[in-house]
Amino acid sequence: MTIKDKVIIITGASSGIGAASAQLLAANGARVVLGARRADRLQAVVDTIEAAGGQAVYRVTDVTKAADLQALVALAKTEFGRVDVLFNNAGIMPTSPISALHTTEWQQMIDINLTGVLNGVAAIMPEFTAQKSGQIITTSSVAGIKSFSGAGVYGATKFAVRNLMEVIRMESAEEGTNIRTVSLYPAAINTELLTTITDQTAKQNMTDFYAAVGITPDAVARVVNFAIDQPEDVNVNEFTIYPTKQV
Ligand SMILES: NC(=O)c1ccc[n+]([C@@H]2O[C@H](COP(=O)([O-])OP(=O)(O)OC[C@H]3O[C@@H](n4cnc5c(N)ncnc54)[C@H](OP(=O)(O)O)[C@@H]3O)[C@@H](O)[C@H]2O)c1
Repeated sequence: MTIKDKVIIITGASSGIGAASAQLLAANGARVVLGARRADRLQAVVDTIEAAGGQAVYRVTDVTKAADLQALVALAKTEFGRVDVLFNNAGIMPTSPISALHTTEWQQMIDINLTGVLNGVAAIMPEFTAQKSGQIITTSSVAGIKSFSGAGVYGATKFAVRNLMEVIRMESAEEGTNIRTVSLYPAAINTELLTTITDQTAKQNMTDFYAAVGITPDAVARVVNFAIDQPEDVNVNEFTIYPTKQV
């Protein structure tokens, strides 16, 4: 099965990479199930998709809550009968130097960027194991494959999900459950992500940098589309997405 008619759950679908992916995948015939915390923004994405003739539903979802991910999977099954892809995309990036000790933000990044992904994996694994197929896509970051000053904890969460995706891929191959995994490593993509930075120096530096080199989130959406569109026996599983101008 290619993208058409696949049922695809997307977290962090209310803006940025998630919203762009939802729109592209739905335009190509997927049935998308959207989760994030802001209902008005999710409704706007659904409206845009439906106005273009696509199929989409949403449920307000906080990825830090395991029950919310279970409910999102249940919604997909109720509305569309099955799940083919889980796209773990929700994330925040309140970067700051470790010496600033923004420990509350450290914990929020762990809860959303790492535990949020684990909650998605836990919710979908019984489905994918039982049906012996499925694809789990996770938005890591270039900060998940190399280190950046200011991204000590953010990068730690993104390195962690990279390892998680690779181990799921390996164990599924060993167990014969045909679960494919994809890790995305975007660089500077112009979204709402920088609004999560509270450290004013870090925010200004990032804002200037993104203004200089950033590209639009549909660049990532096209990669997601490509990965999902591969035949079932092909697992394309790691992608960096850089602006051409970014060093
Ligand atoms: N933009 C970049 O340069 C870049 C680079 C590398 C990696 N990434 C990663 O890309 C992913 C998407 O970010 P983006 O760039 O598209 O930024 P964005 O526009 O800020 O989108 C982030 C999404 O995550 C959702 N979210 C945040 N906390 C959540 C929670 N607790 N539960 C559910 N949803 C939550 C937000 O929706 P609500 O606020 O409505 O919940 C929003 O839909 C993130 O994982 C980010 O780390 C981005």
